Amino acid sequence: MDFNLSEEQLMIQQAARDFAQNELLPEVIERDRDQKFPTEQVKKMGEMGLLGMMVDPQYGGAGMDSVSYVLAMEEIAKIDASAAVVMSVNNSLVCAGLEKFASEEQKVKYLTPLASGKVIGAFALSEPEAGSDATSQKTTAEDKGDYYLLNGIKNWITNGGTASYYIVIAQTDPEKKHKGINAFIVERGWEGFEIGVKEDKLGIRGSDTHSLIFNNVKVPKENRIGEDGFGFNFAMAVLNGGRIGIASQALGIASGAYELALKYAKTRKAFKTEIINHQAIAFKLADMATQITAARMLCFKAAFEKDAGKDISESGAMAKLYASQVAMDTTIEAVQIHGGYGYVKEYHVERMMRDAKITQIYEGTSEIQRIVISRSIAK
Ligand code: CAA
Repeated sequence: MDFNLSEEQLMIQQAARDFAQNELLPEVIERDRDQKFPTEQVKKMGEMGLLGMMVDPQYGGAGMDSVSYVLAMEEIAKIDASAAVVMSVNNSLVCAGLEKFASEEQKVKYLTPLASGKVIGAFALSEPEAGSDATSQKTTAEDKGDYYLLNGIKNWITNGGTASYYIVIAQTDPEKKHKGINAFIVERGWEGFEIGVKEDKLGIRGSDTHSLIFNNVKVPKENRIGEDGFGFNFAMAVLNGGRIGIASQALGIASGAYELALKYAKTRKAFKTEIINHQAIAFKLADMATQITAARMLCFKAAFEKDAGKDISESGAMAKLYASQVAMDTTIEAVQIHGGYGYVKEYHVERMMRDAKITQIYEGTSEIQRIVISRSIAK
């Protein structure tokens, strides 16, 4: 494996780092407190090409590789994990799925504004009774000839209140089980499509998570993605790539908390010396640095494999499983190193600890990642 980053990769890493410092850091505490979506910042991220990073410029994207995506995601998530999930969902779950599987007409109409960041998208798979058990879709899409009639409820949808376009997974033919599931592009504002309640969350409070309600929504046939019955395989393929995004988000949360803890440990004095000189603190930092480096390598490996066109179900799941655990462990220790200061908002690490938890839950819980990995190694 070549560990040298290219000039282009270093440039995008630096641009994302500068953007995060200058544009995301200033009000990140207030956005978390008030559950305020980073509207202006997301707009700028779109202008920088961060919302359709890997999409072909022909469809409004930035045409970069997946390693650049990992680098940029880490830098954004170091400062604001909420902005990072908006970026991850738009890139990995929405744009990547459309670029790979949508028709030419769908790409022109939907992918181009999404990848250029003019609008953002959402991915609606989870339901009140179908989270991990994703084949048990209760949302129905009845085939009515030249359109489908969509009915049901989706839960915990990232970008739910701000998206313009939604990829919605629904069951068309229950007898065929997962082979009767379809994926559709649904536009905000269509009759019968209602945005439900906004969730009041533990973490990533600057992101916008809603339920979605579909009540006899007419979806034109041409808005189905792929062949009839392709929806579940579509969702699985998209989620494999999505897991690289969330792994990178987790990596960023961990490295952000580690950098703050290291800085604090070098300046805070106790017992007549900087606390980094106490082995109890130094060993925590040594573990953090090691685990973060390992998490980064897993993210890079999955990204390299994705760009090489390999099956990334195993490497994406490994990256997410490990990086999300590292995010949780690192942020807990970062709070501990900060002592009383770590427990108050202005030192950032308590927010990072709250933000870290979701990375072990969404886009496949850690238990689901272990299912994916164990099935893959058993093959
Ligand atoms: N990659 C590609 N295909 C996969 C796959 C993977 N990782 N996992 C399963 N599949 C395919 C199988 O090959 C099979 O296809 P065929 O029938 O064509 O061969 C089909 O999917 C069904 O697979 P299984 O029989 O293994 O189904 P299962 O019910 O036993 O298990 C599961 C499937 C892996 C547990 C799946 O349900 C799963 O991944 N669940 C987690 C769902 C998830 O990640 N939800 C996150 C919601 S999105 C989100 O959080 C977005 C957000 O807003 C941030």
